[in-house]
Parts: sequence; C-alpha cells; structure tokens
Amino acid sequence: MKFFIDTANLDQIREANDLGILDGVTTNPTLMAKEGIKGADAINQHYLTICEMVNGPVSAEVLGTTFEGIVEEGKKLAKIHKNIVVKVPMIKDGIKAIKWFTDNGIQTNCTLVFSAGQAILAAKAGATYVSPFIGRIDDGSWDGVKLIEQIVNIYNSQGWMTEVLAASIRNPLHIVRCAEAGADVCTCPLPSILGLLKHPLTDIGLEQFLKDAKNMQ
Ligand code: G3P
Repeated sequence: MKFFIDTANLDQIREANDLGILDGVTTNPTLMAKEGIKGADAINQHYLTICEMVNGPVSAEVLGTTFEGIVEEGKKLAKIHKNIVVKVPMIKDGIKAIKWFTDNGIQTNCTLVFSAGQAILAAKAGATYVSPFIGRIDDGSWDGVKLIEQIVNIYNSQGWMTEVLAASIRNPLHIVRCAEAGADVCTCPLPSILGLLKHPLTDIGLEQFLKDAKNMQ
C-alpha cells in the first residue's frame, strides 16, 4: 500500500517526506484554503512547490463543476508538473471529464466517493485513482473500511486498473484496516502516520535497554 499525505502544509509534507516512506500528496480546496493560498498564480505555485518536494503523484483539485470548466482547469493543472493528478468530483460532468482526461493521457483522482456504484462509474471512466472518504462514512455510523473492501473486490473481479485510494483517514487504525482491506493507497494526515509509531511497550523496552546498556560500557 502506498502512503500519500493529505495536506497542503509544506512543513508537514517535508516531515513526512523526510521519513522516506512518502509516495505522494493529496490536497483539496479546504486544505489549500487552510494554508491561506489564494488566487490562480499562488495556487499553481504551491502545487509546483509540492511537486518539487515529493517525487510522486500530487492531486490538485478542480473548482469547476461543468464538463467544459473541469476540462479547461484540468488541462492547466496538468501542465504545472508531470506528477500532477487532476482531482475531479464524483458528479455527472466530472465522470464525463474523467473520460476525456483518460482519452488524453491526463491522470485523474475521482474524489468525494461514498458508494460502490460511484466507484464503478469512476473505473469505467478510466480514473487513475478513486477516493472513498472513509472517515466521513464512519461519521454517519457506517463502516468506511467495508466500502474499501467492497470496491477492492469489485475492481479485482472485473480486472479494473483504477487504484483504490482510501481518503478521509482519521487515525492510525484506519491505516491498518485499509492495508488489510487491500487499498492501493492510503492518504493520511501527518498525525495518523506518526501514530503508527506509537506503542507503550516500545517505550518501556527502549528505556530498559538504554539503562542496561550503561552496564556494558
Ligand atoms: O482526502 C479527503 C480528505 O481530505 C477529507 O478528509 O477529514 O475532511 O473528511 P476529512
């Protein structure tokens, strides 16, 4: 399973990248706005900076909702850097645009996916990635990881190449369960990635080893 970081914060991207385990980055308009990035030039520059920091796919989301608007925006985003993946919402015009991008060699990430039916449409349109939002499904007292399992099974049985990118990750257990479920990618906030490091027995064991090591000197 590939690890992407789900943020537009450059310090967090750098910290995750320095671990040596980062495969890519996803952003969305909420995450970009949180960093105070405004205006087309600043937005494009920010995507370029991220692409130059991380050697892997970087999802940049379109803001338009019509076929023509999404295609125009996506073409511009794809020109920023070869690693840009155009992130397109799961709407009717979004599916049409994903098919257009597929036919024109532009990578896509179909976002805001909450059902297997939506994931089937994304794969049929040739999306590079499909992004089910598992945390938001959990928020509605459903099990988001079950949806990952279902989509993985469907894609495997149909031989579809779209990668299942588990998004809206809220904690380290989500990451573990997505790996069990066969997700191709997990896009995570930095605290969830760092949370994987934690175990009290590791801390207790290390403390003891360091104490005993003093007797070896
Ligand atoms: O990748 C999608 C993600 O950013 C949404 O996360 O926590 O806002 O549901 P969240």
